[in-house]
Amino acid sequence: MESEATMMRCAVFGASGGIGAALVRRLAARDDVAVVFAGSRRGAVPTGAKITPFRFAAMDDSLADTVAALGTPLDLVLVATGRLTRADGSGPEKALRQVSAAGLHELFADNAIVPALIARAVQQLLPRDRRAVFAVLSARVGSIGDNRLGGWHAYRASKAALNMLCRTIAIEWARSHPQAVVAALHPGTVDTGLSAPFQRGVAPDRLFTPDVSAAALLDVIDRLQPADSGGFFAWDGAPIPY
Ligand SMILES: NC(=O)c1ccc[n+]([C@@H]2O[C@H](COP(=O)([O-])OP(=O)(O)OC[C@H]3O[C@@H](n4cnc5c(N)ncnc54)[C@H](OP(=O)(O)O)[C@@H]3O)[C@@H](O)[C@H]2O)c1
Repeated sequence: MESEATMMRCAVFGASGGIGAALVRRLAARDDVAVVFAGSRRGAVPTGAKITPFRFAAMDDSLADTVAALGTPLDLVLVATGRLTRADGSGPEKALRQVSAAGLHELFADNAIVPALIARAVQQLLPRDRRAVFAVLSARVGSIGDNRLGGWHAYRASKAALNMLCRTIAIEWARSHPQAVVAALHPGTVDTGLSAPFQRGVAPDRLFTPDVSAAALLDVIDRLQPADSGGFFAWDGAPIPY
């Protein structure tokens, strides 16, 4: 067992989601983790030893106080929030004629703006003298270079924006937090509420349970170095082009 001083203090935003909840459970089971703050805007989060639930409103001025109350340091921050369809259940778009200002606003807010505001709020809590990780769940379809199918305009574009925000934050934190790692991660195709309507055609061995995806993502995170900061990686650690 590690000493309390070297054990990690972790925070998962979006802990009510399929992958977020699995990440919380996996982290709480680790010997090198002291506490997992499990944040959600409204949904239920896992309970158990080492798990401390909290509520957050990312677009609200209260976020700074909410995050400050978690206390310092935060060694690992995971942002597992995001959406593919709109709040009214519509989308994703199949063609340009289905693109709307409201749809773009909604997905950019949830997929790009929310994680950026979380990064801004947590930066004061990240240690400057040792490794710190800030990882967000992006999606392979947010890769501009990898886009051969088209469609899903707002989701793709909002994840591409998220990836650019991560890269930009990584450059800034390389100066202020030289051992920090900022990463955008693709979790694979995972059996959650988000992907449920779109799983037809996915080979069974390519549809991960949330637990399998969470284990793979934490394995990738454990191996990332400061030199990798700003990168975009799949669940198996393979880099994905921006
Ligand atoms: N599942 C997949 O196959 C797949 C593939 C590629 C990428 N991803 C990415 O992985 C991430 C997690 O997906 P998932 O499959 O676990 O989806 P999920 O089960 O639907 O969970 C999404 C989570 O995001 C939270 N959330 C959404 N908008 C939010 C906001 N504005 N503020 C705070 N929380 C917000 C939800 O909170 P509430 O409960 O409060 O609504 C929920 O906890 C997403 O970014 C998704 O794009 C998933």
